Amino acid sequence: MLYLGNVAFTSRFLSEQAYNTQKKLYIWEKFMTMAKKKIVVFTGAGVSADSGIATFRDADGLWANYRIEEVCTPEALKNNRAKVIEFYNLRRKESLTKRPNAGHLAIASMQEWVDVVVVTQNVDNLHEQAGSSRVVHLHGELMKLRSERNPDLIYDINDGWEQSLDERGEDGALLRPHIVFFGESVPMFDTACKIVANADILIVVGTSLAVYPAAALVYYVRDRQVPIYLVDPGNPDTAMIRNPLTHIKERGAVGVPQLVEQLRHELAE
Ligand code: OAD
Repeated sequence: MLYLGNVAFTSRFLSEQAYNTQKKLYIWEKFMTMAKKKIVVFTGAGVSADSGIATFRDADGLWANYRIEEVCTPEALKNNRAKVIEFYNLRRKESLTKRPNAGHLAIASMQEWVDVVVVTQNVDNLHEQAGSSRVVHLHGELMKLRSERNPDLIYDINDGWEQSLDERGEDGALLRPHIVFFGESVPMFDTACKIVANADILIVVGTSLAVYPAAALVYYVRDRQVPIYLVDPGNPDTAMIRNPLTHIKERGAVGVPQLVEQLRHELAE
């Protein structure tokens, strides 16, 4: 038996042609309903952990081996430029050997049936490599440099990984990694807030929700009914989340594909 709106009908009462037309309409209606759903995926370092990129705050994370003040602040860039550039050169070199994992791929696969936007705190490009076409980078991008004078003068690093210390932009200013340092504003935050405010479903993957303003995005969902799914093997700070929250305590490469499959079935019902 098929249901179209509230009307149930069977092929017994319809000619075969009418039945097939109704069936096609029904499938189209379902498809359109799903396609209109907006899923926003908010990711942190954990989504890339299964690709072999270290997170920041786990026991073996980057901030266990480097001091933020020495490599990720405007003061560090001013006072110890070589160390900052070297730190990001290493991250870039390492990232060239990394590939998207099943979590990135599952996120990208949702584009086939829903409207998906990824908002990431990550500076790697694994979401793009996986095929996600709408990715907002809150904290910048490793494979880009920008002028120290003009933040809108941004350059792709097309070959290799190394930024030399004296590289300059066409405005004559030194280039710096296109990374949002601690203490700097987050230019993409307002854009990200508007995206999250439109979400029918919010999926959060692999972030400790410890760094603001990014972590505050979970509060920008439109209303209290919007479900939030969290995929993270640890215990992110969810104390302030008031929306229905489902915490899938799995690593990204396992939990994200499971969740995507679950949502695909639920939305198709
Ligand atoms: P964190 O290192 O703070 O948190 C990583 C999260 O990933 C934790 O909640 C872990 O439990 C989780 N995790 C670990 N392994 C995982 C796996 N295999 N699958 C899924 N989750 C896993 O990283 P972020 O929250 O992204 O900013 O950190 C936010 C910001 O702080 C970063 O963007 C960076 C950092 O300092 C800048 O550099 C400006």
